[in-house]
Amino acid sequence: MIDRARLERRMGELARIGGTGTSVTRLGLSSEEQRARDLVGGWLAARGARVHRDPAANLWARFEPPGAGGQSLPIVVGSHLDSVPEGGRFDGALGVLCAVEAVESLLDAKSELRRPIEVVAWADEEGARFGVGLFGSTAAFGRLAANVAERHDRAGTSIADALRALGEHGDPALARRGPKEFVAYCELHIEQGPRLDQAGLALGVVDAIVGIYHARVTVRGRADHAGATVMTARADALAAAAEIVLEVERIARSRADAVGTVGEIAVRPGAKNVVPGECVFSLDLRTAHGLDSLVHDTLAAVERVTHARGVSASIDELARVSATTLDERIRGVLKRAAKSVGVDAPELTSGAGHDAQNPALAGVPTGMLFVRSTGGSHTPREFASIDDAAVGAEALAIALRELAS
Ligand code: GLV
Ligand code: MN
Ligand code: MN
Repeated sequence: MIDRARLERRMGELARIGGTGTSVTRLGLSSEEQRARDLVGGWLAARGARVHRDPAANLWARFEPPGAGGQSLPIVVGSHLDSVPEGGRFDGALGVLCAVEAVESLLDAKSELRRPIEVVAWADEEGARFGVGLFGSTAAFGRLAANVAERHDRAGTSIADALRALGEHGDPALARRGPKEFVAYCELHIEQGPRLDQAGLALGVVDAIVGIYHARVTVRGRADHAGATVMTARADALAAAAEIVLEVERIARSRADAVGTVGEIAVRPGAKNVVPGECVFSLDLRTAHGLDSLVHDTLAAVERVTHARGVSASIDELARVSATTLDERIRGVLKRAAKSVGVDAPELTSGAGHDAQNPALAGVPTGMLFVRSTGGSHTPREFASIDDAAVGAEALAIALRELAS
């Protein structure tokens, strides 16, 4: 049985770390994310888990079934504790809270399990600070790009420095674990879109996750006096970037299921009376079908616009994660679990990226359960009711019990 009061109390406790009102800012690899890990690790240690943090700052908590002797392979369940800047209380956090509650409910019921269960809280899923999303799970499944630890935030702090400040060595690649070490991975997450809300359903089962491309684009023009430089003599980096932003929108709109976003932009030197000499912006492209051609067309547009305007551009690719189909058997387990708590859960494709992509792409049978969210996500408006959260945690517990016994 799910202990709703315990779940609700913990939702509030976790939301206070980095939270004001319904807004939460708990960036990856920050001291706030660390406090959240310590809080969750404390709950799990108090229930007898072996808790540790790995070199990528992922939190792991292992529950050994009595008599298993530490030999058999675990089922892993979890999500992430970081948020975007001025995000909400549920993206990631709900998945960790429900994983903890599901496992505790199995312990409370003295369920006989044959396999260990490991709860994981992946570090820096959002990549808001360093630009590297799905950071902790990418490290754990050996999929980090070379030299990733040298990437830095706007203040010049590198990932390695941030890890060292948290007490790690600074080399996230040491977090690698083999996919053969796990029997299955499950993640509960708020839906982040309106489909469950519109259907009047509390739960959905994810069939696939879209492919995602992230890059940082630097446009280099020439800084000049804003009054003394005639319009025909300029190489304005921001004007070029503005045209590229509209191309990103046009290209994504021309494809049935693609989205393209420039969510971050900075101009140098950044003064009202100086023609922008340099402009750095983010690129987020997603589609379930044909990611490479979406990326190709967008980068061709960058080339076209910069060439026409006499400026130059360089592209720093941060991540390219293919569209990911989730495991059919685990999907079945999750659907049956949802059914047994009274929800005929539809299969949904996720437009958001998730840590679940890394185990799935590494070959670990992986499944995801969505919980209805009103108010979307990545804003303080995101919301999952305690009723829906409890139903989700219960379905997750039922699925874990089937997978682990
Ligand atoms: C994570 O929420 C992402 O999809 O960017
Ligand atoms: Mn998110
Ligand atoms: Mn998330």
